[in-house]
Amino acid sequence: MTAQFEEQPSEAQIAVHWREEGYVYPPASFIAQANGTDAGLFERFSLENFPECFKEYADLLDWDTYWHTTLDTSNPPFWRWFVGGRLNACYNCVDRHLRDRANQAALIWVPEPESEATVAITYRELWRRVNEFAALLRDYCGLRAGDRVTFHLPMVPELPVAMLACARLGIIHSEVFGGFSGTACGGRIADSGSKVLITIDSYYRNGELIDHKAKADEAIEEARKEGVEVEKVLVFRRNPGQYCSLTPMRLGRDAFVDEVLLDYKDAVVEPVSMPAEAPLFLMYTSGTTGKPKGCQHSTGGYLAYVAGTSKYYQDIHPGDTYWCFADIGWITGHSYIVYGPLALGTTSVMYEGAPTFPDPGRPWRIAERLGVTTFHTAPTTIRMLRKLGPEEPAKYAYRFKHMTTVGEPIEPDVWRWYHDVVGKGEAVIVDTWWQTENGGFLGSTMPALQPMKPGSCGPGVLGIHPVIYDENAEEVPAGSGKAGNICIRNPWPGIFQTIWGQPERFVQTYYAKYNRDPKSTDWRDWPYLAGDGAVQAADGYFRILGRVDDVINVAGHRLGTKELESASITVDEIAEAAAVPVVDDLRGRAVEMYVALKPGITASPEIEAKVSAAIEREIGKIARPKAVWIVPDMPKTRSGKIMRRVIAGISNFTAVGDTTTLANPEIVEDIRKQVQAAKYARGTVPAELTPEQIAEIQAFGSVE
Ligand code: PRX
Repeated sequence: MTAQFEEQPSEAQIAVHWREEGYVYPPASFIAQANGTDAGLFERFSLENFPECFKEYADLLDWDTYWHTTLDTSNPPFWRWFVGGRLNACYNCVDRHLRDRANQAALIWVPEPESEATVAITYRELWRRVNEFAALLRDYCGLRAGDRVTFHLPMVPELPVAMLACARLGIIHSEVFGGFSGTACGGRIADSGSKVLITIDSYYRNGELIDHKAKADEAIEEARKEGVEVEKVLVFRRNPGQYCSLTPMRLGRDAFVDEVLLDYKDAVVEPVSMPAEAPLFLMYTSGTTGKPKGCQHSTGGYLAYVAGTSKYYQDIHPGDTYWCFADIGWITGHSYIVYGPLALGTTSVMYEGAPTFPDPGRPWRIAERLGVTTFHTAPTTIRMLRKLGPEEPAKYAYRFKHMTTVGEPIEPDVWRWYHDVVGKGEAVIVDTWWQTENGGFLGSTMPALQPMKPGSCGPGVLGIHPVIYDENAEEVPAGSGKAGNICIRNPWPGIFQTIWGQPERFVQTYYAKYNRDPKSTDWRDWPYLAGDGAVQAADGYFRILGRVDDVINVAGHRLGTKELESASITVDEIAEAAAVPVVDDLRGRAVEMYVALKPGITASPEIEAKVSAAIEREIGKIARPKAVWIVPDMPKTRSGKIMRRVIAGISNFTAVGDTTTLANPEIVEDIRKQVQAAKYARGTVPAELTPEQIAEIQAFGSVE
């Protein structure tokens, strides 16, 4: 057995290896109906016209009071957009559509079991449900504008109803992805200071009715440990009238929503007129260090930004049937299932379950039956559908005009299957690059006006001016083939306002690295650091390489190494742990854990299993490691920092790079032999990595 051990390629070598893909042009049928066909848009949104250009997005909304200042930069980088303006997000997504489209479906919900009927909720019905739920939040829970409430809900229509009901009252919602564990949810409850948790008894996933209420009790226990006492738990029932959970309801604390709602039948709640800068919601995401960060999004700036990008980049028209196949538990679902599409008055489809249940033809059956025109998903789903059902799309008579990919880099090969087979060569594709922190898209082609290039997201979107900086804050020129840190030169309305409760961390993480003068109130001195490596081609298109901080993107979901490591060391036998990404055929990246044991403990498969179980308990199933390696010691710098980049190289069979700064360089070879021999034995040696993947692994953890 010999492991190939390449030398680390230089940046110049990587440059030679980048293969530039050719352009693919949008079909004429798409251009003929597109929202963005006026090339004058680029001029209107040029840097010279910043920040006033964003008036065009804000004017897509109805304002109670128009703003007087487009952008206030007096307290950087805490930008304030549309200052003086007042509006209500729920009014903009629901009430204002009643005049023209009360009987049009706002939401179409597809349950996972195929035998269950699809549910269409018209704008009128949505208005009724939102009003009743808002009355319950206000009068039964005593919640007011500015209070926080946590949801731990899967893909059920009650989730957008609850979000909009909060928005109607100015209550800040914080939805935790349903697949996260109770413990993970509890940490987010405590951080946000929520006194109310909204959950559901059960939901379907992969043919199984999952007991979800059990997680609520774990969440409340965790929140209590962290000093926050939840007073009320509102429980929806997946199947009307039936309680499908083994966990008892706690008297005085837990209530079934359907029972309480009887008291609020036909209630009408006036939308509360909120300042543009009032927070609309929190969305937690993983960071380099410490606990997940609660990204705080604004009402006016956020809603304007998602409405504008939904119009031009999602090309949403009110008459479309738009299906974003993401989970509302992530930012994509907030912006591009709920707020953006509903602000524009379209029909937004929600699907409860797994993409390939009961077979990989399922999404295409749904698309055919509902007449979906616009489809939006992540590379990980596309890869899975391609693997399990490459011929399936051709069997169904749906026709997409527009498709989106989001969340991770998409391999050109996967892109082409999406285009040729899923899109049947008739749909335009946008590869949208952005993050939880951003509210909406940062990089994408304008679908009717700019050609697509497989594997590249495209240039910055309207009003977004990206730049790549090297470690010395020098601009890396387009076409140089060199990778660097992608930043955005200017603020934009969708940018999050702060990390909830941690303003210093906000400044430190996103602005400190390239800030030119901490006292400056000129936005030009405050480039936003995205935390991704990228390369820019001569035509201005960006190719995103992936995270340069200690964040692992598994199936489009961000996992912080720190959280994985903290979960691992809850296992008694573990002294130290390090998480690294490995390239994975389906999920893009998967997690491998390296752990060192306390003195006197012997390695065993049981300990490996305990580590996996601890991660599932603390974070959730999505974070389960692909392998747990018990190693004699970790490669460390002299200051005691674990060099994750080195073990990431071992796991991926790429060069480990410079090890001269290690205190214990001899350990590297021992670990390499142990891990790579095991991978040969298990048949899990990865295929040769692309230059982009090598660059990402080698840059892993390079930004602190
Ligand atoms: O690394 C980038 C990757 O996903 C990260 C953001 O993850 P999250 O905050 O969970 O938001 C995902 C959905 C917006 C980014 O830092 N990423 C996102 N979109 C793309 C991408 N990488 C390449 N291409 C994309 N289109």
